[in-house]
Amino acid sequence: MNRENVVTHSLSPLTLILFLLLSVSAVSCDRQDTPLARFQHYLRLNTAHPNPNYTAPVSFLISIAQSIGLKAQTFEYVPDKPVLLVTWPGSNPSLPSIIFNSHLDSVPAEPSKWSHPPFSAVRTPDGSIFARGAQDDKCIAIQYLEAIRNLKGRNFVPTRTVHLSFVPDEEIGGFDGAAQFVGSKEFEDLNVGFVLDEGQASVNDDYRVFYADRSPWHVTIRATGAPGHGSRLYDNGAMENLMKSVETISRFRESQFDMVKAGKAVISEVISVNPVFLKAGIPSPNGFVMNMQPSEAEAGFDVRFPPTADADAMRKRITEEWAPASRNMTFEIIEKGSLRDIRGRPLVTATDDSNPWWSVFRQAILASGGKLAKPEILTSTTDARFARRLGIPAFGFSPMKNTPILLHDHDEFLKDTVFLEGITVYEHIIGSLSSFTEVNSM
Ligand SMILES: *[C@@H]1O[C@H](CO)[C@@H](O)[C@H](O)[C@H]1NC(C)=O
Ligand SMILES: *[C@@H]1O[C@H](CO)[C@@H](O)[C@H](O)[C@H]1NC(C)=O
Ligand SMILES: [Zn+2]
Repeated sequence: MNRENVVTHSLSPLTLILFLLLSVSAVSCDRQDTPLARFQHYLRLNTAHPNPNYTAPVSFLISIAQSIGLKAQTFEYVPDKPVLLVTWPGSNPSLPSIIFNSHLDSVPAEPSKWSHPPFSAVRTPDGSIFARGAQDDKCIAIQYLEAIRNLKGRNFVPTRTVHLSFVPDEEIGGFDGAAQFVGSKEFEDLNVGFVLDEGQASVNDDYRVFYADRSPWHVTIRATGAPGHGSRLYDNGAMENLMKSVETISRFRESQFDMVKAGKAVISEVISVNPVFLKAGIPSPNGFVMNMQPSEAEAGFDVRFPPTADADAMRKRITEEWAPASRNMTFEIIEKGSLRDIRGRPLVTATDDSNPWWSVFRQAILASGGKLAKPEILTSTTDARFARRLGIPAFGFSPMKNTPILLHDHDEFLKDTVFLEGITVYEHIIGSLSSFTEVNSM
């Protein structure tokens, strides 16, 4: 309805009052200075791969930081891939600081498969906000800032310095983002004692927390063998050599999956192996030459290790069983992340009393009225691994409970109530972790 029409055609005092009331409530619905509006605004800044543009989201986050009175600085280790650091100084800056991390980028979205445009951040009548990045992980970026705004508003002063980092490129491995930042002089100077990074939604009433990531290997095996006519039966062809290995690898995959199916482990605790490509054959104008056995064949596998897995044993298995030289096979392993920290310990953050950060974190969740599920290993990777590599304790956590797990999925959404509740949870976490003084050094 057009407002001008209402004014010109309905001049009775009652209608006028009604109109005024309606406009007031309309204004309050559309208010731009609320946490929800800022969340929606941030979601509308498209930072999907393959070409995320970080200029607008970084400016937007800086404007929020400034409105709260926080210092913001950007570092550019790789051109056009800024790292934004927002700082809330503690009263005792000699204590190790704490960092709350989130990434600026998102995976792409296929708009035709969504019920609402993926960068509209539309809020449906039931309060669901639909957008790519709603769960992964633009929610936590705004929640961190809003939690600090609220704490500051109550005149809370942190003892330790609190930093918020907003990094590029997590979804493509973080090598130009968090890896650069964590390896920098600037990061070293922050004297970081603890990192909180993104986690995942929980379908029940418990929040999930992750204390380790699985580490990926890209494994390629190659076979060679004598070529021959497609009608011949002979030993040691390239395809035959490769297929024998594929069978061996499939059996290993099943042995791991069987442990999951039998309830003896969850997926993130076993070594997962998935075939991702097969490459062989001699191309012809309409496909492949069908009457010729090729002399080369290869296959690629995505292998993921829990941090406690024995990498040497796996290398031996690949050398002896998956790609034995005796069957004219070779292999290549590209390690996409390490399994150990710089002191040779598994990349795991302790979730018991040996880690004082854990106790304080857990207490803060309880104090906020929440509950934690049994700590988990993440099946995939996050930027937290770069901090763990330096020996810095790091947890993955996103306060989303009773929420379907929709990261990287179509129709990713987060409920407004869950988003707002998360701000309160972070007020407890930031308040507690920045106040306790037991850990004086790393
Ligand atoms: C990124 O976005 C900004 C505006 O937000 C624009 O000025 C700039 O040209 C864009 N950069 C590229 C490489 O498209
Ligand atoms: C390995 O390759 C050589 C040379 O092509 C061939 O003579 C031999 O039979 C192959 N052995 C196996 C086990 O494939
Ligand atoms: Zn993420």
